Amino acid sequence: MLSSPYGAHEFRWLDVYGSVYTLKGCFGQDRLMVADPLTLQYILNSPKFGRAPILDNTANLLFGERSVITASGSEHRRLRSALNMGFTAAAVRGYEPVFKKVAEMIVGQLEGSPTATDVCSVLSPATLDAISQAILGHPTQDLGEDFVANNIEIVKLTASQSETHILADAIGSYLPAWVWRVAIYLPTTGAAAARKERFLAKQVGGRIVQEKIDAAKQGLEMNNDLFSLLLHPNPSDNTKTLSANALAFGLLELARHPDFQDKLRAEIYSNLGANATNMAYENMPLLNAFLKETIRLYPAVPQPERLALEDTVIPLGESITTSKGERISHIPVRKGQVVTLAIAAYQRLASRWGMSPHEFNPSRWLDGKTNQGDVVGPYANLLSFLGGPKTCLGWRFA
Ligand code: HEM
Repeated sequence: MLSSPYGAHEFRWLDVYGSVYTLKGCFGQDRLMVADPLTLQYILNSPKFGRAPILDNTANLLFGERSVITASGSEHRRLRSALNMGFTAAAVRGYEPVFKKVAEMIVGQLEGSPTATDVCSVLSPATLDAISQAILGHPTQDLGEDFVANNIEIVKLTASQSETHILADAIGSYLPAWVWRVAIYLPTTGAAAARKERFLAKQVGGRIVQEKIDAAKQGLEMNNDLFSLLLHPNPSDNTKTLSANALAFGLLELARHPDFQDKLRAEIYSNLGANATNMAYENMPLLNAFLKETIRLYPAVPQPERLALEDTVIPLGESITTSKGERISHIPVRKGQVVTLAIAAYQRLASRWGMSPHEFNPSRWLDGKTNQGDVVGPYANLLSFLGGPKTCLGWRFA
């Protein structure tokens, strides 16, 4: 699973074995790798599949068992529908002043930097700031240096991958939930960061929510952030985050394609025109194509896993030939089978995205071919934000 550059082995297996194949994981475990769009769509929407224990347990450690990310069933639906208010198209347009302020801050920092700059160290705090302002109504300084530093530490820990991580994931998936509950007290760097995150999130979040409750009680004017809206819903109110890694990869591709960069800049300037405050994103085909091509090539969660909760049969969009030479269009799956949703591989299928799927080529979005076939995911037939009931709530914001 480890290769440099990222995904090199997996994309080769895709070429050799096709969009559905098995491989051996740790301890001889069979891993089913799926990049077939119909099968992905089926699994993401089927109640017969749940999140793999390792993901669930890590999320429980970080966010607690009663958060939108970790809840399931009717409790999950209730939380999602409450929070949805802050993530509609209109709500996200309302966050534009926040995005503009954050974008100006990024430009200021990059313009003031030497020629070679680590963009991640600029984008990561900026992303957190956009979320903090739009969702909590406070810039990150108000959350405290400790909270920001710990958040960056957590992002680093969860974004890295190593042999030890793979082995720990495999062992972790055999451990019962109670072991996970006590794992947060282990004397390791990861557990210490998770403990601090839980503590600070509760402390800082609790303080901000209390301030808002007090302001609402005193009849003070409420802000446009999500938490103020939750306390004081106002249907006429209009109420966005940039994902730091997606942005960093986008900047990398712009640096590699200076001709495209010039055209994109020209499109943006011509649309800004006299009215520099109001961005008409819909009128910028190159910008939209650029965003789609970036998240197609670099999904932030390239291999989420699902667990079969009962014996079942999954359909295949394209039939495959097994190692025994049999032609099949369905795969029987046993309860407990871990299925890897090979999102990054799906997003590089030549059958779906045209020739040279590994190339950064925004113009593939302009000739209309990419949107043919079944519709999967919330946006542009991409699964970077997953799909089904656990689709990313913040996709418009991102
Ligand atoms: C490029 C940026 C982003 C990407 C690629 C992304 C991707 C994802 C993915 C793959 C999931 C599903 C995780 C799983 O179920 O295993 C998810 C869930 C979620 N995302 Fe995002 N996300 C992004 C930005 C955001 C932003 C900016 C917000 C909020 C401001 C957000 C809020 C959420 C929430 C609340 C969930 C949980 C939804 C649920 O379980 O019902 N995301 N995201």
